[in-house]
Amino acid sequence: MRGSDELDPGQRDDESGAERSVRPARLRDFVGQPQVKEQLQIALEAADYRGEMLDHVLLHGPPGLGKTTLAHIIAAEMGCFLRATSGPAIERPGDLAAILSNLEPRTVLFIDEIHRLSRVVEEVLYPALEDFQIDVMIGKGPGARSLRLPVQPFTLIGATTRVGLLTSPLRDRFGVMQHIDLYGQAELQQIVENTAGVLGVPVERGGAREIARRSRGTPRIANRLLRRVRDYAQVRAQGRVDQATADETLAGMGIDALGLDPLDRRYLETVIDKFEGGPVGVETLAAALNEERDTLEDVVEPFLMLVGFVQRTPRGRLASAAAYRHLGRIPPVTGGQPGLFESV
Ligand SMILES: Nc1ncnc2c1ncn2[C@@H]1O[C@H](COP(=O)(O)OP(=O)(O)OP(=O)(O)O)[C@@H](O)[C@H]1O
Ligand SMILES: [Mg+2]
Repeated sequence: MRGSDELDPGQRDDESGAERSVRPARLRDFVGQPQVKEQLQIALEAADYRGEMLDHVLLHGPPGLGKTTLAHIIAAEMGCFLRATSGPAIERPGDLAAILSNLEPRTVLFIDEIHRLSRVVEEVLYPALEDFQIDVMIGKGPGARSLRLPVQPFTLIGATTRVGLLTSPLRDRFGVMQHIDLYGQAELQQIVENTAGVLGVPVERGGAREIARRSRGTPRIANRLLRRVRDYAQVRAQGRVDQATADETLAGMGIDALGLDPLDRRYLETVIDKFEGGPVGVETLAAALNEERDTLEDVVEPFLMLVGFVQRTPRGRLASAAAYRHLGRIPPVTGGQPGLFESV
């Protein structure tokens, strides 16, 4: 499923358009993440009370959990304009200097994939974040000198799936840092019901529950599965999204009862069958699966760890007895088997 999305940019565009249309616009409509919402609410109110811009915010966590959505919500709550860019789009220090010196008053600057800013570009950001100033170089060679220019006070919102890759000087300049976690069943069900409302899809409670159960804790997946189930229901089931229709559609897509998709299962089969349950290094696994290491670490493993099927250890990845059982294998019984841990 994820693989084919990557091969088909047209479909991705469709999905991102669809994503925008179901994105909650205000904090009160954002489902789940109660601590994150509370912290943001407090920071927003305090900044408003002081008549200042909000402290710089870093949002981190796996893909599809609402980081971009929250950035837009924060700007809306502040009544500010949001200017969006991304780490890979800012290639040279001059690109960032140009963005910063052209900011309108009261702008929220959103930098997605902020861990991919280069060091030299980051250095332009530091004085801007601290003092709303940038240093630009005038001239070249021995006569070159640096000039300080003021920039409009702004709030930076950085988003990243890889907070560990941020340099500490950058990390230290965020006043608000929030981790976004995978969502629970009830929250995902609520999200499915809300999206169904926006799309005008009649969804029964059992249908929403089934989709939520198989969404790997991820709102983006929940919304995407809802659209697939809706298609199937329109063609095969008079348009109603009930539990049986959801079950049939999702099983047909290779998504099992726990929500594991084909890549998740291939991951587990590789650890168990090729590497005897592990420990196996992530690079070795990526090569065996012919996938990017980043995909495994950002997308596949967070959910497999959440359900207790995989453990990351310094020696490599381990499959749990529960993972063996989920695949219908008998877990090895030898107490000394180093690769095996009992999970919850
Ligand atoms: N808490 C939520 N409530 C309702 N919908 C949500 C929530 N979180 C995410 N969504 C929906 O899930 C989709 C993906 O969210 P978003 O694009 O914000 O994720 P992201 O964390 O920025 O992902 P990425 O890391 O891939 O950029 C959007 O359509 C959004 O509407
Ligand atoms: Mg995003």
